[in-house]
Amino acid sequence: MGALGVLTAGGDCPGLNAAIRAIVRSAIAQRYEVVGIRRGLRGLAEGDTVPLDRRAVTGILPRGGTILGSSSYDCFREEGGVPLIVDNMRALELEGLVVIGGEGTLAIANRLHVEHALPIVGVPKTIDNDIAATDVTIGFDTAVHVCTEAIDRLHTTAESHNRVMVVEVMGRSTGWIAAAAGIAGGADVILVPEEPRPVEDVADQIRKRHAQGRDFSIVVVAEGYQLTRRSGERDGPVVQEFDEYGYARLGGVARVVADEIERLTGFDTRVTVLGHVQRGGTPTARDRLLATRLGLRAVELVSRGDWGRMAAVSGNEIVDVPLADALGSLRTVPRAWIDAAGVVA
Ligand code: F6P
Repeated sequence: MGALGVLTAGGDCPGLNAAIRAIVRSAIAQRYEVVGIRRGLRGLAEGDTVPLDRRAVTGILPRGGTILGSSSYDCFREEGGVPLIVDNMRALELEGLVVIGGEGTLAIANRLHVEHALPIVGVPKTIDNDIAATDVTIGFDTAVHVCTEAIDRLHTTAESHNRVMVVEVMGRSTGWIAAAAGIAGGADVILVPEEPRPVEDVADQIRKRHAQGRDFSIVVVAEGYQLTRRSGERDGPVVQEFDEYGYARLGGVARVVADEIERLTGFDTRVTVLGHVQRGGTPTARDRLLATRLGLRAVELVSRGDWGRMAAVSGNEIVDVPLADALGSLRTVPRAWIDAAGVVA
């Protein structure tokens, strides 16, 4: 057997190491030599690699982050990037490459496969849980767990001070974390990008709640929510800055929402932005299990030479789908979840 490369790209998340471990162990059992590629596709362009044997992946299962490091390097947007990747695949004698990434990375992987015939398979990860063609992605469960715990903690202090607490969670284009952690944590208001709920309605709901004697409220807002008014006026997303490829870094909508709630209701309001806390730390058992199962399927795809496919989840089963099916559109929070959030609030 030849060599198999593995890399992690894009934002990190808990469970990546569990996937790497499963891929390495299973590939070694099938007599592959495994080459770890550092810092995502940048490492492949620069030939920055590390040999991965069983010893190299011992003890990493419960660790967050990625032992390989990550980057958002896009070879299609870097001068001479694609030839570097193609040449290094050959120079490293890689018979196959497992790319663990989110939508952006998987789109690059698919182009490398389709346009340059590179032998690539994908594994979906992102705490945002927004990749099409899979029911769930690595990292989501842990992020929901962290956010739920934070909401629980905010409840007790909100109650003591009769405050409105606005909690911002990640979720650029979809509100999966906000909806799941909001429901699990018993939030009173959940604001997601999918639902342009006017802030005046939110203020009314909070006023009504307080008038009934429950004089504190928890509002969970996804970072990608755009403040909307009854007039139909809608703000753009709150952007911190743009990265080297012009990709917006979001963050800060909670402050905007909180200021509006305080202005409309007069209630004392505070803001908590969970930020990268929700991407760090040890993965939940569910994420470890998911990452392991997806990693094993990825190696099966490699050994069958089933290139251009992605390991995925359908119901409780691990399946595989064309990489192209995961691209183009995002998996958004279904109406039923948004309705459920409204019913139990
Ligand atoms: O896509 C996952 C994600 O965690 C988003 O929810 C968030 O907007 C983004 O990554 C943050 O990226 P960075 O780590 O580059 O700030």
